[in-house]
Amino acid sequence: MTNNIHSVRDGDVLQITLARPEKKNALTSAMYETLIVLLREADASEAIRAVTLEGSGGSFCAGNDIGDFLSGARDMHNAPAFRFIKAIAACDTPIVAAVEGVAVGVGTTMLLHCDLAYAAPDAKFRMPFVDLGLVPEAAASLIVPQLAGMKKAAEWLMLGDGFDAADAARFGIVNAVIDADTLRTHARAQARRLASKPSAALAATRTLMRGDRAHVLARVDAEAIAFGAALASPEARAAFMAFMEKGKAKG
Ligand code: COA
Repeated sequence: MTNNIHSVRDGDVLQITLARPEKKNALTSAMYETLIVLLREADASEAIRAVTLEGSGGSFCAGNDIGDFLSGARDMHNAPAFRFIKAIAACDTPIVAAVEGVAVGVGTTMLLHCDLAYAAPDAKFRMPFVDLGLVPEAAASLIVPQLAGMKKAAEWLMLGDGFDAADAARFGIVNAVIDADTLRTHARAQARRLASKPSAALAATRTLMRGDRAHVLARVDAEAIAFGAALASPEARAAFMAFMEKGKAKG
């Protein structure tokens, strides 16, 4: 467990906060492990009926920790990042996300598996996998084209273009843009609303809406194979080193 993930119970809602603000909440292996445990706990507990996901320090999540990319294992199926993606994609408890500031890489793609998501006007989204010599994850290669259409998906996933909160709402990455002052309150209130619904009917509705998850999980697996190969490539290593060197130059 890590102290970079905070969790607190508010009645039947589990509030999870990514709490590594000095690194814009970039996710380390230890943070993924804690998130996996928390999502499993939520599913196992009848007392937890919804989850909220929030960032801290004005950011949502700057993606996978790039230092971890350099040192991480190539067996993606056992990598904490991919086990987290599988856990959130298969989670039975409704999840509501509140996004302010940056949402990069998995910071954006985890939203594809949340039931509801809200963004502050300053939220900035980006999936720069190709620029890092990588490929999309979290079934983004499947779900983003479904949501935004193939052409917009090509801008986001191939060109690596960023987009703002208004476009995130327009293309269904989030539900709505909410003032930063009320973002968390709104997301938590929506989670409480979900938690208060008849639970069997809500669970059945969610299962029907999500349909057969096998093809989503199969895409996560296929991406993991390509991702693992890409991680070891010279172009990815060069991109990670360039990011790390930039930090050193700044310091
Ligand atoms: N992994 C490791 N450290 C990260 C990080 C990441 N994914 N994202 C940000 N950080 C660190 C920075 O190195 C910096 O650390 P330092 O203060 O010790 O130098 C700190 O977080 C703040 O980031 P900084 O770049 O100074 O903030 P910014 O507001 O100028 O830019 C981002 C924010 C998110 C746009 C920029 O940090 C970035 O592009 N990060 C990488 C995102 C990424 O590619 N993620 C992987 C996607 S697959």
